[in-house]
Amino acid sequence: MTDLKDAATQVRLNAHAPYSNFQVGAAIRAASGAIYQGCNVENVAYPEGTCAEAGAIAAMVAAGERIITEAYVVAGSPMPVTPCGGCRQKLAEFAAPDVRVTMATTGGVEQVMTMADLLPGAFGAAHMETTS
Ligand code: THU
Repeated sequence: MTDLKDAATQVRLNAHAPYSNFQVGAAIRAASGAIYQGCNVENVAYPEGTCAEAGAIAAMVAAGERIITEAYVVAGSPMPVTPCGGCRQKLAEFAAPDVRVTMATTGGVEQVMTMADLLPGAFGAAHMETTS
């Protein structure tokens, strides 16, 4: 699979979302060019569910990669699905501010934003530097 849209659209069909009935697919391209896929995996104990983006990031890291160059998220919603706050922080761990994130509907509507747009003022490693 070489196309991020196809990868996200395909993996979305595997989402386990019996509680929200909202299936999400995510695909990220890493520095090697490889694509990693993730879907949301809900749980009967609702807070234990995981987002599609988190799954794709976990697959990338498990494969030994640490740099996201592009991301695509798709859901069957009327407007493009945007990553939740937690996923914006998770993406920012591996994606530079200029990385483009495409948010899409299964109907073909797309919206592109950068990581800097999605998470302005992101908490980063520089904030962890201590002065005393
Ligand atoms: N969800 C994602 O997987 N990614 C997003 O970007 C937004 C929300 C999931 C979490 C939950 O399983 C369902 O969508 C409804 O919130």
